Amino acid sequence: METLVAAIDVYRDISPALYIEGWMSPIELAWLAQRAAEHERIVEVGSYFGRSTRSLADHTPGWVLAFDDWGGVREPMVDVETGKAVTCPSRETIWNKFQINLADHICSGKVRILNGDHADCSIIPPCFLAGTDAEKPDMVFIDGGHEYQEVSRDLEIWVPRLSTEGLLCGHDLSRADVSRALTDRNLNWKKVEYTDLWLIQK
Ligand SMILES: C[S@@+](CC[C@H](N)C(=O)[O-])C[C@H]1O[C@@H](n2cnc3c(N)ncnc32)[C@H](O)[C@@H]1O
Repeated sequence: METLVAAIDVYRDISPALYIEGWMSPIELAWLAQRAAEHERIVEVGSYFGRSTRSLADHTPGWVLAFDDWGGVREPMVDVETGKAVTCPSRETIWNKFQINLADHICSGKVRILNGDHADCSIIPPCFLAGTDAEKPDMVFIDGGHEYQEVSRDLEIWVPRLSTEGLLCGHDLSRADVSRALTDRNLNWKKVEYTDLWLIQK
């Protein structure tokens, strides 16, 4: 419990994020909020309705680049409460909800949008790869597709685009494909206690 209390500022207000549908638990949102408060150039790979985006944007002193095609979850979806299969909402519904949920931050420029396929590096600002540390993201949060190939691709794209002291983290560590992709890349990852989050240790 000591580590958790040290990692999470319990007084950060995550209530706006809690109102947005999604899979991140309150403790995960609080952890993201705390990390966001320490970083200024955040890339989120996988935003959906904006639950995690909201927690990041509400607390960073900088900006969040939300990268998604808003096509929705590609794997079969189940209802968290009933365990029954559910169909993913349409692209239009997800996109509209995201814009409503983040309207204030989109208007202010705090949330920037990268609307496209996670595999398409051509739409990523070139300075993220070739620029200085001050131009590269200092935090990347990966929560896109969870298949082995998708997680591997996202790691390959984002590891070289992160600033030297930047924080790389992601969600759904309990999925075997996620932990296998991290391990196969020899990344020194660890689980964030009491969550399904992972981070790369420096
Ligand atoms: C698990 S959801 C993200 C959840 C979000 N972080 C939250 O807090 O609710 C995964 C997201 O990744 C997006 N996604 C999956 N594969 C993608 C791809 N190849 N290109 C772009 N977006 C993708 C989906 O549209 C979906 O919105």
